[in-house]
Amino acid sequence: MNEKARKEIDALRETLRHHERLYYVLDQPEITDAEYDAMMRQLNELEAAHPELITPDSPTQRVGGKPREGFVKVAHSTQMLSLDNALNEEELREFLNRIGNVDYVTELKLDGLSMSARYQGGRFVQAVTRGDGLVGEEVTENARTIRTLPLSIPDPGELEVRGETIMNRRAFERLNAEREQQGLARFANPRNAAAGGLRALDPAVTASRRMDFYAYLLLSGGEPVHESHAESLVALEKLGFKVNPNRRLCNGMDEVIAFCAEWESRRESLPYEIDGVVIKVDSIAAQRQLGWTSKAPRWAIAYKYAARQASTIVENIGVQVGRTGALTPVAHLQPVAVGGVTVSRATLHNEDEIARLGVEIGDEVLVERSGDVIPRVVRVTRQGESRRPFHMPAHCPVCGSNVVREEDEAATRCVNTNCPARLKESVLHFAARLVMNIDGMGDALVDQLVDRGLVKSVSDVYDLTLEQLVDLERMGKKSAQNVLRNIDRSRQNPLPRVLVGLGIRFVGVRTAVLLAEAFGSLDVIANAEVETLQQAEEVGPKVAESIHEFFREPRNRELVERLREKGLKFDHPRKERKAGKFDGMTFVLTGTLASMTREQASERIQAAGGKVSGSVSKKTSYVVAGDEAGSKLDKARKLEVPVLDEKKFMDLLN
Ligand code: IVH
Repeated sequence: MNEKARKEIDALRETLRHHERLYYVLDQPEITDAEYDAMMRQLNELEAAHPELITPDSPTQRVGGKPREGFVKVAHSTQMLSLDNALNEEELREFLNRIGNVDYVTELKLDGLSMSARYQGGRFVQAVTRGDGLVGEEVTENARTIRTLPLSIPDPGELEVRGETIMNRRAFERLNAEREQQGLARFANPRNAAAGGLRALDPAVTASRRMDFYAYLLLSGGEPVHESHAESLVALEKLGFKVNPNRRLCNGMDEVIAFCAEWESRRESLPYEIDGVVIKVDSIAAQRQLGWTSKAPRWAIAYKYAARQASTIVENIGVQVGRTGALTPVAHLQPVAVGGVTVSRATLHNEDEIARLGVEIGDEVLVERSGDVIPRVVRVTRQGESRRPFHMPAHCPVCGSNVVREEDEAATRCVNTNCPARLKESVLHFAARLVMNIDGMGDALVDQLVDRGLVKSVSDVYDLTLEQLVDLERMGKKSAQNVLRNIDRSRQNPLPRVLVGLGIRFVGVRTAVLLAEAFGSLDVIANAEVETLQQAEEVGPKVAESIHEFFREPRNRELVERLREKGLKFDHPRKERKAGKFDGMTFVLTGTLASMTREQASERIQAAGGKVSGSVSKKTSYVVAGDEAGSKLDKARKLEVPVLDEKKFMDLLN
């Protein structure tokens, strides 16, 4: 019996690995997601029935292990070196001249974090960050969740693979959109998000960041295994690693320089960020002869592209009105080229950000494009001679209604719920790819639909007719038919998308899925009390109150009823959740902890089913007080809420 199960399990694993490689590494899937899921489910069921057959390299083990307290330090087999930089063509030529006309491999310099992965007997056994080059942090469980890192390879030896862990632009934008909806700060660039992901205490956080690993070095016993670098890259591909295909074996200096120039102009078209090109001498024998300095190899150099920052003048500061009615100040800039793209606008987020930057109209500022679509102002580089401050308008620039700024909020909002700017943004949000995914429903169309009064509420989208659409500018019969078909299809979207589409503050994709799984129906969610809503995973008081408030508003209730009439999905399969140690408990963190950051502590609490709140009340279960705890500690004492110091908190966690 066991033998039969073993065979079945082995066969399934092999098939799954094959398809994972096609999907994640080669980007050429041959089966549908549903087929893949069905096979994975089958494997999960078989392994559940035969737990003794579970091995750490099984495709089911990507979920990673339990959250942990901190990281273990591990010494590298040989130093993980950095690279010397060439900051311009002249410095690059100097390097190439010094070495001479040999073969070089040119590779893109991915902007992420280097990581080393060790394999024994064909199995992935350990991953370590670069750290200071000599000693790094063990991140094995986190690395396990990275789909492009093989858990098993067809080589029984002891191998070490080094490469770059990155987040691609799409995963990054998705993460930031979700964080924004949850009221969390955006990451400034994919590199920072990847760094947080790789070093998260909870592997589930790493998994949710959807990171990628690109291999660029293959070692055994700390030494290269092949005669040339180009060969070792091919060997890595054969072992199942993702190796960047955008590389070239160049003969001599001119070809190297041509490669650098080519990718400088093409870098925007890549799905991930690069900050330059790495040039490596191809022959390993020649590499050995050239040797290393204490910091970097003498046989390689990083040709760095200019930073994607530039200085320019703020000609004016305008205001945009978003879906929630929030007024966002936007800097209108003297057009400037930043990393190959002309920039004339940059977001200033809100009044507090303007105050923090100290920026006024007429100032010279440094703008940066990094990961985000919208450039941001980094700092003021020179104050303008006739500078003048910006003031938030007292009235909405679109509808003229009053604007208000709540005491504890950064945003200033238009009070008119019928403001056309808000309606347009609401429709665009509803139709967005990650929401109801109505392809073709972009700015130009939505502007016309709202301006002509064809859409007065989001639900009116479902009443549009072919006659109405063909009548619009830039809309042929063919595209009108396409849009209508996409609108019709969107009715089939599952409940979490509908929930996100409603535009409830702090309810992003992840929260929506958890809500739908916890309650199973929109009606239950809409009628739930704040306390009930908090029973869903990751839903704290702030999110619960926002949801509750949303459904108490008659206008929103009406919208829900109209969407029901249009046939949207209001039900969802429920999912029982595992009991957590901190279920039903609320924690407040104050002061600094020595062993983890506040974000890491929150992660741990939430992973155990607890909630983290920003303020102490009678309902707080525990206040965790680190060093220099402030007024929250005083309040806890006053309200007689139990206080945990770091040691007691760690004991409770474990
Ligand atoms: S080779 C001894 N190749 O750039 C070889 N590094 O500035 C050392 N990087 O620490 C690295 N893409 O994190 C190499 N194709 C690539 C790379 C790459 C990105 C990173 C790596 C390294 C840093 C040095």
